Amino acid sequence: MFRRKVLPTAKIADASDPQAVDEAARIIRGGGLVAFPTETVYGLGADAGNAQAVARIFEVKARPRIDPLIVHIADVPSAMHYGKLPEAAHKLAEKFWPGPLTLVVEKKNTVPPIVTAGLETVALRVPAHPAALRLIRASECGIAAPSANPFGYVSPTEARHVAEQLGGLIDMILDGGPCAIGLESTILSLANPAPCIYRVGGTAIEELELILGKLAMQIDMTNPHAPGQLKKHYATQTRLEIADEPLEALNTDERAGLLCMTPPDKPFRYAAIEVLSPSENLREAAANLFSALRRLDAQSLDRIIARPVRETGLGVAIMDRLRRCAAR
Ligand code: TXA
Ligand code: MG
Repeated sequence: MFRRKVLPTAKIADASDPQAVDEAARIIRGGGLVAFPTETVYGLGADAGNAQAVARIFEVKARPRIDPLIVHIADVPSAMHYGKLPEAAHKLAEKFWPGPLTLVVEKKNTVPPIVTAGLETVALRVPAHPAALRLIRASECGIAAPSANPFGYVSPTEARHVAEQLGGLIDMILDGGPCAIGLESTILSLANPAPCIYRVGGTAIEELELILGKLAMQIDMTNPHAPGQLKKHYATQTRLEIADEPLEALNTDERAGLLCMTPPDKPFRYAAIEVLSPSENLREAAANLFSALRRLDAQSLDRIIARPVRETGLGVAIMDRLRRCAAR
């Protein structure tokens, strides 16, 4: 009889249990890989100073080595251990850290080249999640961590998303429940003559512009400084299209899924429907987006139709992720 080979899965522990977090920190210090919750998405962490451990992150994710990682720290002094923080970084850190803002600054030589993919800059972030902060402090090092998903796929916002895809390949998963924000951090570079956005995300551009004035954007795939910002990314296996009123275009025998802010008028046309926020709240929609995409992707649909959302606040990042998912 044919038997599916089942990989042993990493230990999943409660992220609110300090002892579990301390055990995870021991794994990090020993060069292992731990998936942990943040307020944005789950990260797959290793000691940022341990090039071998970081190399394993790239292997596990099948991530190209040209795509640099974010170093997660618990406070500004630790950030200064890895990067040279200009005045603006201190100002932003005071207002937005801990939180979903990643700052790209000139690196120090405490960061192994594999972390920054050879760039002279390093991306730094203080996550706003008690378990993440405890893990970083107990590990006594910065934690290099990409999102804990196979390269190119939708980021994980629940521990079981990580377990399903990477469980057999890593050492431990800390389960902190669903991520509050549900979209990756906004990436802002302070390493150029003028501040510049590399990725829209959990911190709204409008909030940053209140402090920095009008910001330049470099968020397309041609940006050599942010090689991870590929046009096709955050993608489901199922083809996804962004369309306002797709009903006419549906074949009757087609199994289509709908991703929408509020329930549709003609639900019977769809084999599956995911409503992101009945009250049209963009924060709630962002928090639901990736798990909704994963649920639709698990249903062998012919295609997923995503209704566009309004592009203000977090809506900018939601539409960015949907466009990258739709790109081919
Ligand atoms: O919210 C987040 O940022 C999550 C959580 C786990 O913190 N992390 C995350 O990491 O989304 P990742 O690796 O999936 O995306 C990080 C992005 C990549 O696209 C990479 O290209 C960019 O950050 N990046 C990292 N270092 C950079 C650098 N020195 N210059 C420009 N871009 C950089
Ligand atoms: Mg990622």
